[in-house]
Amino acid sequence: MKILAFESTCDETAAAVVEDGRRVLSDVIASQADMHALYGGVVPEIASRKHVEVIAALAEQALEQAGCARSDIGAVAASYAPGLIGAVLVGWSFAKSAAFGLGVPLIPVHHIRGHIAAGYLAFPELEPPFLALAISGGNTLIVDVRDYTDMAVLGSTRDDAAGECFDKAARVLGLPYPGGRPMDELARQSEGGVYALPHAQVDGAPLDMSFSGLKTAVVNLAHHAAQVGEELDRAALARDFTRAVSDTLVPRTMEAARRTGRRTIVAAGGVAANSFLRADLERTCREAGCRLYLPPLSLCGDNGAMIGAQGYYEYLAGHTAGMELNAYATRDISSPLPSGGAE
Ligand code: KG4
Repeated sequence: MKILAFESTCDETAAAVVEDGRRVLSDVIASQADMHALYGGVVPEIASRKHVEVIAALAEQALEQAGCARSDIGAVAASYAPGLIGAVLVGWSFAKSAAFGLGVPLIPVHHIRGHIAAGYLAFPELEPPFLALAISGGNTLIVDVRDYTDMAVLGSTRDDAAGECFDKAARVLGLPYPGGRPMDELARQSEGGVYALPHAQVDGAPLDMSFSGLKTAVVNLAHHAAQVGEELDRAALARDFTRAVSDTLVPRTMEAARRTGRRTIVAAGGVAANSFLRADLERTCREAGCRLYLPPLSLCGDNGAMIGAQGYYEYLAGHTAGMELNAYATRDISSPLPSGGAE
C-alpha cells in the first residue's frame, strides 16, 4: 500500500510517498532553518505560517516524484504529536483534508515513533524487538520497541532534550542555529579535556537523564569568560560538552539493553547524526556484542518518509483516526490510539 505522509512538528515541512512501510518512492523536505537562524531558535508562529505556505505544493511534489496518481494512494499519514502545537496542527489538518478528499484512511503517527521507523527504511532486515535511543531537538528517550506499535519508555530526560541542549550551547559559542552540526564540526578541532562539566544523575531513576545543568554550565562558562575578558577554548568546550552528552546517553542505553536483554539497538533523531556519539555507540555496542543500527544522516533529521514508514505499521495495527482526532503538543509514545477510531 502506498501512503502519502506529512511531517510538520517543528521547522521542517515534509511530504513523502512510502510503499508498504519500507520503500521510499519520494521524500521532499522544505526546511525553514535559515529563517529561524535569524532569531537563534525556532519561532513557533513563523514555523506554523511557513508550513501553511508550502505544504500543498510539497504534497504535489511528493506525488509527482513518486510517479503516483492520487488514485494510487491507499492512506494518508501525518505526525499528530508531539511538537509545536501550531506547527503540528498544519500538517495534521492538511492530512485530514487530503484523506477526506481522497476517500482513504487517515493514520495518526507519533513523531518519535516516526523517528524510530527511519531505521526500517535504512535497514530492510530490521524488525522489532529492539531498543531505540530516540534523540531529537525536543525529545530524549530510551524506548523498548517490543513490536512495531507496542513501545515502553525506559528512560527519558527530566528537563531539556539533548538536541535543545546542543542548540543552546552552540548559541553561546557563537554558532548558527541549528547548533548540533556546527558543534560537531567545532568539537573535531580539539581533544578536549579542558572543561569539567556536570554529568547529572537522577536519584532513583538510573535510566533517566537531565541536561539542563550541563546547558547552564556551558552558558555560565561563556558568560564568565566574557566578563573577565578571558579567551574561551571554544573547540575544547564543544568537545567536552559533546563528551558529557554522549557519556549521559550511551551508558544508560547499554544499561537498558542489559536490563531488557535486548541485543539490538537503533539510534534515531537529529542528534543521532552526531559523529562522536555514533563512534561511542559503535565502540560500546561492539564491546557488548550488541547489533547497532545507525541510520544515515539524511534519515536522522525530520522527514516525511519516516512518518510513512511508521504509518504503515500503525495502519496494520488498526490505528486509524476520524476527523475529530486533535493534534497534541505532548503525547506519550507508548499510548496507542483506540483501534479503528479517534479518541
Ligand atoms: O530530529 P530533528 O531533526 O528534529 C526534531 O524532531 O527535533 O532534530 C533536530 C536536532 C537539533 O537540535 C539539532 O541541533 C540536532 O538535532 N542535531 C545534532 C547534529 N545534527 C543535528 N546534534 C548533534 N550533532 C549533530 N551532528
